[in-house]
Amino acid sequence: MVKVGVAGYGVIGQRLADGVALQKDMELVGVADLAPTLSVRALKERGMDYDLYLVEGADASKFNALGIPYKGSFNDLIGKVDVMLDSSPGGVGAKNKELYEKAGVKAIFQGGEKNSVADVFFHGYANYEKGLGAKYLKLTSCNTTGLIRSVDCLDRNYGVDRVAITIIRRVADPGDYHRGLTNALQMDKAPSHQAVDLMTIMPHVEATGILVHTPVTHGHIITVVAHGKDGKKITRDMALDAFKTHDRIRVVRIEDGFLGNSSFFRYARDLGNPRGDMYEIGLWEDSIVESGDNIMYAINIPQESVTIPETMDGVRAAIKMQNDSASATAETNKNLGLGRWKN
Ligand SMILES: NC(=O)c1ccc[n+]([C@@H]2O[C@H](COP(=O)([O-])OP(=O)(O)OC[C@H]3O[C@@H](n4cnc5c(N)ncnc54)[C@H](O)[C@@H]3O)[C@@H](O)[C@H]2O)c1
Repeated sequence: MVKVGVAGYGVIGQRLADGVALQKDMELVGVADLAPTLSVRALKERGMDYDLYLVEGADASKFNALGIPYKGSFNDLIGKVDVMLDSSPGGVGAKNKELYEKAGVKAIFQGGEKNSVADVFFHGYANYEKGLGAKYLKLTSCNTTGLIRSVDCLDRNYGVDRVAITIIRRVADPGDYHRGLTNALQMDKAPSHQAVDLMTIMPHVEATGILVHTPVTHGHIITVVAHGKDGKKITRDMALDAFKTHDRIRVVRIEDGFLGNSSFFRYARDLGNPRGDMYEIGLWEDSIVESGDNIMYAINIPQESVTIPETMDGVRAAIKMQNDSASATAETNKNLGLGRWKN
């Protein structure tokens, strides 16, 4: 059993902890946080399913006053694990890295950190093998994770040499107040970081893109225009066939009721998925169209949960639990129940 810890029990950390707990070949040793946040209070009210450790600077008296038990310090947790999953706020992971280095423990960081925090900028499908045995991995952001899943799917099956994307980005997570009460769309300077990130991980694909922030909280939507490698056209049928075989891509239809981002959130809740999470991206069958030599399609990114499977792949790569992407992603998918909707 590979021993795993989670630093930062927030939006991503809670989901990473649940994801690790579901892996049959990993053990979640505990989670660490700085403050008795609502998520930490909910953990206590649920009966402390995970052991809690306090990071440096945490005020223990606040935890004591609320009767929230903790097992020890952050260093205690780091000393017990093979790999730390760092989901602390963007930038804080780089500081935590000093502790991981001192303890000689591997770590996997999330998208809010700079690329320089890690040896490998990682995606479970597109460059798993580069992560093999690495000490420090950084996951792609939520949008980039889902985007690369779909582009890699076409690339693996047919070859892709060019993509252009438009990202319609949710501005905050449910429950966030720090972005204010908004009713406006906001443009980012092109090219979007997701296009640049895609090229870092898939250097053989030329990518560019535009990002528009929207005042919604349940999911981003990305439209992708992709061009087949060596001028080989990817037809609508070819794209659909490839997407349908992918265990982290749920192909849906508008006529079945998947009208937009909210339909996915509602469906995930109807499925009884904790917190209304979806590990898979949604891909609208009725969005796939040909435009000259290009193929175009739209995907839905459940931003809070989409990076969890690729982070599990990251543990598999760093610890060399499996030596190739196909067997590693298959193991993660089995443990998370991915692809079950196809049966
Ligand atoms: N929210 C999303 O949709 C999303 C999606 C993909 C990736 N990410 C990335 O995941 C990372 C975490 O984001 P989040 O949205 O979960 O943040 P969050 O604010 O919800 O959670 C961060 C948690 O870390 C705790 N913390 C503060 N200082 C700490 C420290 N020194 N050590 C450990 N924990 C500490 C905070 O108390 C909080 O509970 C960021 O890099 C972010 O860019 C976020």
